[in-house]
Amino acid sequence: MKRTFTIFCLAILCACTNKYKEIENKTEDYALVPKPVELTTAKGRFPIGSGMSIFASPELQKEAEWFSQGITNLGGKPLQKTESASDADIVLQLDASIAHNEGYGLNVSYDNVRVTGKTATGVFYGLQTLLQLAEENEASTDLTVPAVTIKDHPRFAYRGMMLDVARHYFDVDFVKKYIDLIALHKMNRLHWHLTEDQGWRIEIKKYPKLTEFGAWRNGTIVDHFPGTSNDNTRSGGFYTQEQVKEIVAYAADRHIVVVPEIELPGHSGAAIASYPYLSCFPEEPTFVPNEMISDKSKELQASGTPKIVQESWGVYDDVYCAGKEETFKFLQDVFDEIIPLFPSEYIHIGGDECPKKNWERCPLCQKRMKEEGLADEHELQSYFVTRMERYLNSKGKQIIGWDEILEGGLAPNATVMSWRGEAGGIEASRQKHDVIMTPNSYVYFDYYQAKDTENEPLAIGGFLPLSHVYSYEPLSNELTKEEQKYILGAQANLWTEYIATPDYAEYMTLPRMTALSEVVWSPKEHKNWDDFKTRLPFMIEMLQDKGYNVSTEHINEPPKK
Ligand code: ACM
Ligand code: ZN
Repeated sequence: MKRTFTIFCLAILCACTNKYKEIENKTEDYALVPKPVELTTAKGRFPIGSGMSIFASPELQKEAEWFSQGITNLGGKPLQKTESASDADIVLQLDASIAHNEGYGLNVSYDNVRVTGKTATGVFYGLQTLLQLAEENEASTDLTVPAVTIKDHPRFAYRGMMLDVARHYFDVDFVKKYIDLIALHKMNRLHWHLTEDQGWRIEIKKYPKLTEFGAWRNGTIVDHFPGTSNDNTRSGGFYTQEQVKEIVAYAADRHIVVVPEIELPGHSGAAIASYPYLSCFPEEPTFVPNEMISDKSKELQASGTPKIVQESWGVYDDVYCAGKEETFKFLQDVFDEIIPLFPSEYIHIGGDECPKKNWERCPLCQKRMKEEGLADEHELQSYFVTRMERYLNSKGKQIIGWDEILEGGLAPNATVMSWRGEAGGIEASRQKHDVIMTPNSYVYFDYYQAKDTENEPLAIGGFLPLSHVYSYEPLSNELTKEEQKYILGAQANLWTEYIATPDYAEYMTLPRMTALSEVVWSPKEHKNWDDFKTRLPFMIEMLQDKGYNVSTEHINEPPKK
């Protein structure tokens, strides 16, 4: 009894003399993005970098390891794993009473930290918040975090970023760096645009020419489309299936689902260059506008190889033939290899920008239309997409398509990605189809972020300042409450026609993605541009410390009208 009393007194003494207990924190110590649902500040700081012990329940071991690595990356002492929650400084646990699937609770006092989540995903987001608090306060001599109580969950289930690796190839390391960005913004989907006219980027063992030929182009136009010349430089690349598995696993460890996009029936030039029989007209040469074709491809076409991987940008008439059974056989074979690589519930099948000119003059496409009783080529596109949907549904997958899949009739179970503004998304949700909003007017990160483009690197065009991204509201007020339920969330798209390097990709993404993260995560009532701008500098510094190239000159651009 006497000994217990002594220990009790010592504990009281330690607590009273703890140098972190009485510290008053400043508002900026809590500058989090995206802003949490509920945050209550308190006195005191927890010295997270001073060799603390951590307990994680068995389901949360990966999250604990990821977090420990984060603390040592910030210069903190390694966390010590313990087997019992009662004597750990930091405790990670599941808590079934949390209502939201991705929700979490975070409680930091001067002498312990508790992170709870309904699921491991929730705990991961709690740890992201904790790391953000630590990074922000990294400058203090000891790595400490301010005392706080947070209850948080996302507003939207789908919080995505699209990366186009087809117009320009980005290596595995960059894709992982991009995934890290998605994770630290508490977003949860990487939409991976893998095939295009200008390149096929994923190994398909049954069709080796897709990557022997289709992954490489002999040149690329210089300057804005249609270009002033061709650089005559071979470029490209692809991911082996092993590399794809590595990326998918890396994303899964960060609670991100990778949604692959295999474009059909348009934007299919690289597949056609590899296997010309997929075209309505295998003998017709690939058309490069304004003759901006490379010397090598010109030679190839002169010597009897008509199809080349496209070297210019834009939209092309040479698309998959909808009349040939071989086209569907090819695509089903491709999907048979894609499906086991991606645990995602969704596969994106493209569906945008498919000109109908070739189908109009192709006897096989016309025969198909007659046999199937299709009124026009839009209905032929709908036949194409619906047939692929049926195949993918039979394999347990759902499809996403760009909003053009509405034309000619929507495939029965398709989710629509609305990119030409919000009209397609509005129409699809009225037809009771799920929708992901990616309107070019708000979230096309290939657009300029400066009004004056003179000193900016070449971009596709447009003007999309940071404030405009921040102002985006995915639930259109043209929809009823019932219709709004079909809006799963939003996504920004990074098309890379003019974005050839990781540095430039980061410049176009950041900090606009930081603004989007708050759009898709935080409650609508919390959105406040002036308040966001007070928190943004801390986020920018953190991104820069991690080695990202952030565009910092254009934060105060005039708003887009
Ligand atoms: C798109 O921007 N063509 C989807
Ligand atoms: Zn055809």
